[in-house]
Amino acid sequence: MKAPQPFQYQGSKRLLAATILRYLPSGMPRLVEPFAGSAALSIACALKGSAARYWLNDCNQPLAELLRQIIHHPEKVADAYQSFWRDQSEMALTHYYCVREDFNRTRDPFLLLYLLARCVKGAVRYNANGLFNQSPDKRRLGTRPQTLRHNLMAVSTLLCGRALVTARDYHEVLVDCQPTDVVYMDPPYQGVCGERDARYFSGIVFEDFVDALTQLNERGIRFLLSYDGRLGGQHYGKALPAALDLTHVEIKAGRSAQATLLGRNAMTMESIYLSRSLAEEINLGANMHNLARGQQKIPSSLFSPALPI
Ligand SMILES: C[S@@+](CC[C@H](N)C(=O)[O-])C[C@H]1O[C@@H](n2cnc3c(N)ncnc32)[C@H](O)[C@@H]1O
Repeated sequence: MKAPQPFQYQGSKRLLAATILRYLPSGMPRLVEPFAGSAALSIACALKGSAARYWLNDCNQPLAELLRQIIHHPEKVADAYQSFWRDQSEMALTHYYCVREDFNRTRDPFLLLYLLARCVKGAVRYNANGLFNQSPDKRRLGTRPQTLRHNLMAVSTLLCGRALVTARDYHEVLVDCQPTDVVYMDPPYQGVCGERDARYFSGIVFEDFVDALTQLNERGIRFLLSYDGRLGGQHYGKALPAALDLTHVEIKAGRSAQATLLGRNAMTMESIYLSRSLAEEINLGANMHNLARGQQKIPSSLFSPALPI
């Protein structure tokens, strides 16, 4: 069965989730996602039945509330979407701008769902004041209400009664993690380098993030991190310190459409990093420890093609 998607989301790990799950143990008491976004990994994990409970967190409050409503009241969310979607048959673009204005005033999560479905390439954009400022996609009308209803019901079936949803800063979530938790982190890339990232509501500071990972290591909490990427020879994201003692795995994420347009045949690679406690538990990569990124040779066993879910 294909993992259901609650909404399209920039940076969603939906297509890579099945591959990433290969590096997580089965029988986890709880999987924690401090940067949940569309919760693609937790949804794929619930489909596979690898964790008993889930903690989904995203500091974007309306987004977290949308996830919560989808999990607990999928019919209500689907009804609201259906009414918005029908509304836009005429004057579709004007309708989109009205909804966007209403959302920026009210932070209503149902309005956010409509904007996520209708905005250009599903690419969320926020201005410096935190206002949603992405334009409507002029060619696409967004997911059909019936398809969306089906997806929302499926997400709810997988997570209802098993998931806690919060809208905190990731630091607070990590502090509250238990020794038996497994944490999956997918922070915003540019934000990690200390810049504001217009793609998301908020960014994070690299040094703070490294401190938080160090503390997780000290507490022996298992974690897996999606961090940086590579297109051809070009790396994105600041290298993580060797002192974190992480095991690096590269995943083939597919061919870059942009590079293909420019006549190059570059493959996009996504990196994941496993904490030592997690790598040891799944018997992975002792020889990868403490190597700087430039020195890393990826043995074939640590080089994963993306798998369908
Ligand atoms: C790369 S996206 C996660 C995508 C997600 N893995 C998925 O599959 O949809 C990063 C998310 O982190 C959230 N975020 C950014 N800064 C944060 C912070 N300081 N604390 C918690 N969440 C944060 C953003 O709102 C965004 O949704």
